[in-house]
Amino acid sequence: MNTEPVLYLLSCFLLHLLSSRKQSTASACAPIYNLAVDCGATSPQTGPDGRSWTGDHLKYAPAEQPINGQKSISATASNQAVARVPYYVARVSTSPFSYSFPVTSGQTFIRLHFYPTDYSEFNRSSSFFHVTAGDFTLLSNFSASLTADYLNRDVFVKEFCLNIDQESQKLNITFIPVSNSHAFVNGIEVVSMPIILYSGNNIDNTRVINIDLPPTNSALETMYRLNIGGAAISANDDTGMFRSWDSDDSFLASQTGVVPVNSSIQPHYSKIPNYTAPGELYKTARSMGTNGTKNMMYNLTWSLEVDTGFTYLVRLHFCEFEPEIQVDNDREFKIYIANQTAEEQADVILWSGGNGIPVYRDYAVNINYENPKTKTNLLIALHPGPHGMTRYADAILNGLELFKISNSDNNLAGPNPNPTFSPPNQEPEKALMIKITVYTCKISC
Ligand SMILES: *[C@@H]1O[C@H](CO)[C@@H](O)[C@H](O)[C@H]1NC(C)=O
Ligand SMILES: *[C@@H]1O[C@H](CO)[C@@H](O)[C@H](O)[C@H]1NC(C)=O
Ligand SMILES: *[C@@H]1O[C@H](CO)[C@@H](O)[C@H](O)[C@H]1NC(C)=O
Ligand SMILES: *[C@@H]1O[C@H](CO)[C@@H](O)[C@H](O)[C@H]1NC(C)=O
Ligand SMILES: *[C@@H]1O[C@H](CO)[C@@H](O)[C@H](O)[C@H]1NC(C)=O
Ligand SMILES: *[C@@H]1O[C@H](CO)[C@@H](O)[C@H](O)[C@H]1NC(C)=O
Ligand SMILES: *[C@@H]1O[C@H](CO)[C@@H](O)[C@H](O)[C@H]1NC(C)=O
Ligand SMILES: *[C@@H]1O[C@H](CO)[C@@H](O)[C@H](O)[C@H]1NC(C)=O
Repeated sequence: MNTEPVLYLLSCFLLHLLSSRKQSTASACAPIYNLAVDCGATSPQTGPDGRSWTGDHLKYAPAEQPINGQKSISATASNQAVARVPYYVARVSTSPFSYSFPVTSGQTFIRLHFYPTDYSEFNRSSSFFHVTAGDFTLLSNFSASLTADYLNRDVFVKEFCLNIDQESQKLNITFIPVSNSHAFVNGIEVVSMPIILYSGNNIDNTRVINIDLPPTNSALETMYRLNIGGAAISANDDTGMFRSWDSDDSFLASQTGVVPVNSSIQPHYSKIPNYTAPGELYKTARSMGTNGTKNMMYNLTWSLEVDTGFTYLVRLHFCEFEPEIQVDNDREFKIYIANQTAEEQADVILWSGGNGIPVYRDYAVNINYENPKTKTNLLIALHPGPHGMTRYADAILNGLELFKISNSDNNLAGPNPNPTFSPPNQEPEKALMIKITVYTCKISC
């Protein structure tokens, strides 16, 4: 892909704007800009997926704010058991440094790639830093090593979504080390988004209950993006925005249900734009199984760890593809988000208009806590509709995205994972103290 901010497909973008008043928008929009920077690299690099990354020595070199004359350096990872691009080299500094990217107004993805390891004389575990983008704090006192240890991964990506206003020509991303510490980053992506991707729901029957909605120009952090019942979908197999989708296996908190698959189906995007999610997402799902009596006895539940003190945007993706499910009331179910009823009667066919048509629903849930600096589990649970209301006592989910919404201080940062903490899904007693509001919503990010 091109790393220049070329204005190709602008007409497609405008077309989308014009057509967004209608319910159906089946346009595919390649990004207007798609910048991928291998921080610390001196030459252009090709990533494992074939994308090209520019070195920050060639382009987008950071502005330095040296403390005691100390500028950033390019450093090579001491341990190289990971993908070479963008992880073998990093930009490392004990002073603040700032990247400035050319952007256009609209929504943009920011992806920060981290490989916490020893770089030169800089110790893996002694790095703590803040990251800001525009007016937003993305990360604060952030430890990439604690995060990687907690995730049990060598490398990881933090993804954010920001609104770029009309006047801004530049997006500045600044790394600020905590004193006596160092900041580092291995790679940065800045990729434009279609205007309405995460800014609301243009499905006919969206309920808009406007309680304490965050400001319309809030920023988002992607917490989870899951292909329910399926395998991971790589950034290259996304709809052109380089989003990665994970398998949901490790987030199930109940019986696993069954995993229906219809690999022959070509999802018909008549309700949502076809860039919303890749077709693969809608070819697999998780449902409860054929024994309705058994299904009535449990909730199909996912447990997702989140930071307290924030509002979250939950996007649930659905597509009925089993031949038995054709008309309204064939499969009707309840949706609970954080133990609150989010849908009394979810009916995918009613929402989509038919078998094979993907649809999504957005919900916002506010998770407060008496001490805001902690983590808890957000439960998403499905339960069959009552006998008589539904032909099959079952439930279905195809995909799930969960975003943290910036708070009134323009902050998205949560605490570091506690190294002595037990793994997720093990702290039910904490949930008791949470005050929760669930409401379906329209949100601009
Ligand atoms: C990094 O810090 C840890 C903990 O303070 C220490 O055990 C280790 O020896 C240090 N490594 C280097 C390369 O300095
Ligand atoms: C962004 O960075 C550029 C280049 O360092 C600088 O000229 C500009 O003032 C910065 N803008 C903001 C809003 O900080
Ligand atoms: C979306 O549909 C258009 C045709 O309307 C097609 O050109 C494009 O490849 C599709 N995009 C995706 C991601 O499927
Ligand atoms: C359905 O599940 C119930 C409860 O677990 C069980 O008693 C019953 O035997 C099951 N029926 C079939 C046909 O498997
Ligand atoms: C897959 O979906 C298609 C189109 O809706 C349908 O004709 C076919 O029977 C489905 N196959 C399976 C195995 O469910
Ligand atoms: C399903 O979850 C809801 C919300 O937490 C709860 O009220 C209900 O008792 C659960 N049902 C079962 C069968 O576990
Ligand atoms: C920074 O994070 C570390 C590790 O989580 C924590 O021990 C320390 O107290 C934090 N510092 C501040 C100022 O919050
Ligand atoms: C949510 O449900 C779980 C299990 O059903 C329970 O342990 C927890 O207390 C509930 N949380 C709230 C806030 O009701």
